[in-house]
Amino acid sequence: MTSHLAGDEPGLVVMTLRAAEDAPPSPAAKPKEVLLKLNVNGADVEVDDRFATRPLLWVLRDALGLHGTKYGCGIGQCAACTVLIDGRNTKSCQTPAERAVGTAVTTVEGASGPVVDAVRDAWHQRNVVQCGYCQPGQTLAATALLESDRSPDEAAIGRWMNGNLCRCGTYLRIRDAIGQAAETLAAGRVPERLDAVPAVEMQPLTPEEMADPVHPYIRIQQDGTVVVYSSQIEMGQGIHTGLATIVAEELDADFASVRVGNAANGAKPEGGDVYGTPAGGGFIQLSGKSSSMVGFWSSYRLVAAKARARLAAAAAEAWGVPAEEVEIDSGVVRHPNGLRAGFGELADRAARLPVPDDVRPKDPGQYKLIGRGGRLRVDTPGKILGTTRFTIDITLPGMLTAVVLHPPKFGATAARVDDSAALAEPGVTAVIPIEEGVAVVAETFDDAQRGLRALRVDWDESGAEQRSTEELLAEHRRLVESGEQAVVARQDGDVAAALSGAAQVVDATYELPYLAHAPMEPNNAVCRMSDDGILEVWTGTEGPSYERTAAAAAAGVGEDRVRIHVPYAGGSFGLHSTSGHDPVTEAVQVARALDWKYPVKLQSPREEEFKSGRYRAMAVHRVQAGADAQGRLTAFHQQIAAEPTSPNMPLAVDFLFKDGVDYMTTSGAVDGPYAVPNFKLETTNVESGLPIMVWRSVGNSHTEFARESAIDELAAAAGRDPVDFRRDLLAGNPRTLRALELAAERASWGTPLPEGRARGVACSSFLDSHSAQVTEVSLDNRNRVHIEKITFALDCGIVVDPDQVRAQVEGGLIWALGAAAWGEVVLGDGGQIVTQNFDRYPVMRMQSVPRIDVLLIDSAESPTGVGEVSVPTAAPALTNAIAALTGTRIRRLPVTKTIRVF
Ligand code: FES
Ligand code: FES
Repeated sequence: MTSHLAGDEPGLVVMTLRAAEDAPPSPAAKPKEVLLKLNVNGADVEVDDRFATRPLLWVLRDALGLHGTKYGCGIGQCAACTVLIDGRNTKSCQTPAERAVGTAVTTVEGASGPVVDAVRDAWHQRNVVQCGYCQPGQTLAATALLESDRSPDEAAIGRWMNGNLCRCGTYLRIRDAIGQAAETLAAGRVPERLDAVPAVEMQPLTPEEMADPVHPYIRIQQDGTVVVYSSQIEMGQGIHTGLATIVAEELDADFASVRVGNAANGAKPEGGDVYGTPAGGGFIQLSGKSSSMVGFWSSYRLVAAKARARLAAAAAEAWGVPAEEVEIDSGVVRHPNGLRAGFGELADRAARLPVPDDVRPKDPGQYKLIGRGGRLRVDTPGKILGTTRFTIDITLPGMLTAVVLHPPKFGATAARVDDSAALAEPGVTAVIPIEEGVAVVAETFDDAQRGLRALRVDWDESGAEQRSTEELLAEHRRLVESGEQAVVARQDGDVAAALSGAAQVVDATYELPYLAHAPMEPNNAVCRMSDDGILEVWTGTEGPSYERTAAAAAAGVGEDRVRIHVPYAGGSFGLHSTSGHDPVTEAVQVARALDWKYPVKLQSPREEEFKSGRYRAMAVHRVQAGADAQGRLTAFHQQIAAEPTSPNMPLAVDFLFKDGVDYMTTSGAVDGPYAVPNFKLETTNVESGLPIMVWRSVGNSHTEFARESAIDELAAAAGRDPVDFRRDLLAGNPRTLRALELAAERASWGTPLPEGRARGVACSSFLDSHSAQVTEVSLDNRNRVHIEKITFALDCGIVVDPDQVRAQVEGGLIWALGAAAWGEVVLGDGGQIVTQNFDRYPVMRMQSVPRIDVLLIDSAESPTGVGEVSVPTAAPALTNAIAALTGTRIRRLPVTKTIRVF
């Protein structure tokens, strides 16, 4: 049947439904003719014949409901879909199901035995996991390795695991964990079996609970479990473990009893979000800008201290003793007269008591957990065992899956849709043009993808971005060179006079490409309209408040009718910071077009995620820097041309975009670490049709590349050592100076290196975290650069959990080095989106990962962010090292445009 919902242009099919309007049949529930017999996890299973030629991945996920096996790329590039076939690690997206007939297929759910137990135990003990999305595949690949080689060396591990991508950059820990598992097996030790921990239930808040000073954040269950409602979304950065640490610290709870879940739906009746922070006159829940620990360090400590005071008051009331005499330690409440109780026994009474007025968090000298290592992440077991449910894994009764075909050029729109071939594909239910493309709706993701491939759409490109990335780069260059539309963001002294009087001047232009986030879990969202008119949405977003607004707008309902659930996110890195070009809007549009009859999962194929854009902006910087005859920096003039990012962030734009200056573009340049007597920063907002979004470390990812490269060039022109040169500039910034001194000392800066090696240095003050990095590189006989070693020193204030900070620094470096070496989104002739998957968007893999030495500096300052802090220095320290080694100054990224990187 064909249904026209809106508009009536001839030739434009607005929506076509093929199936009956009843709930769709489940492919697993109604086998027509059984042809395919598989052995999966030791059990014989029979599957509908239509799955025979389809990838095994979708048989496992859609027909058998084994969701531990993940989809990441669909083209054999990521190995998130790894299973064992007769013990060999195999990419199930590249294996037709019929090829598995007669074999033993083992998924993460069915893997057992001493080897996988040793692997999982090592993974757990080494805190390998971040977002966790890739980890079922990683652990199965590691198991296959150890089954074939019980003592692989680092090179063998690197070769074997090189196919398994991890966008969180856990490679070093994976390598160590494999080594540890090998040792365990060699010693004949029986590894500890890892048990799944059930997902924490996030009960909706009543209005009374919302108004309570404790309940929206901490609940103590009757079994003594402390449930932390995390205002900050866990997407791999470890905030759940960080909040568990500070809550356990202030509550004097047993750390093992603390469970953490993503909170959402904290809308206050008067507006704003109970889990939010002030932003632009509003109050939004948003996990970004490495602000989780910065923003919630004080509030969660105070709430936990209040919860402790209430427990003490409850014990005092129950026992008839003064509250001051009640002691709490490791989750046990005691009185010197011998009375004792667990938290759970006192929870109900405590919840009814008022909070004393004079509660204060502990002094740092009293800390037992904060600043100490040795704790395991709270979200690890499910992520290793494949039981953690990401948005891609959510299945609701009667749910349909939609994929959206986006235009091949940004800004094009569907002019004519021929959906006949798509609708002829088995399982395809509907074709629905929506704002950002054309949705194909089907029983399963695989059905929908086949429908999408069969869909024929003529695109109206009259409003599309028609320029290639080379043409866009030329426009950025032109704007920088002409100074057209430039706005002064900061000016100190007289930079023109200082430059004209300088003994040495560097005048250089630095060029950086569009970059994608490409987290391991591709874009997705699930929605369902309930009978009582509540729109429920599931999405691994960084900004639940934004999604609530977007879902309400797309559904045409009030925000109070929207309930957001936030599963663990399989990475994000800024991609899901706001709701523009977002899968939530697409999912709701599709569900609405289907009259809310079906729950809808919107699942992007990787290609369609790339075509949704939301890239890190392209940026061109011109820097003119001058030094006096003594080789001291006297002038620094930085001009930037880039698409602004803040306008894509509602609320935040009000305070991040002022007088034509986008803070998201200028961050790191307007507030750099060095004292420069004559300084001028100008910025030009480039217009293009590309959706731009924050990307790990935002503007600092390009502004600090330009600055640290130019500083190095000027130091060389002035004949000065680049560390000495920076040391002078940091006289008024003791925290960054200390980081520089420490990194230089530990990297043995100034000592000779073997032939064919060199070092580079860079400094950063990112959002009040202070860091310095020394990178050592080598050149092989095929003229390829190897990144050998990184020494990274960081002052991020009080370190809540040293191991988690190290993990974030390692992950950020690996992320940023991959981008610096290879990262580039390309639009071809006419603006065609060329880069659509990992085959054209190489990222760092295990074999290329350097040694990383993270040095944490003691500090009594409040904690600052760590999730992005290692990104800004990664590229300039690398290119500075390459310049020192080869004499070639790389001013355009990625590095591989100039020299190959291994
Ligand atoms: S290799 Fe199979 S999903 Fe990426
Ligand atoms: S832990 Fe590997 S992609 Fe996140």
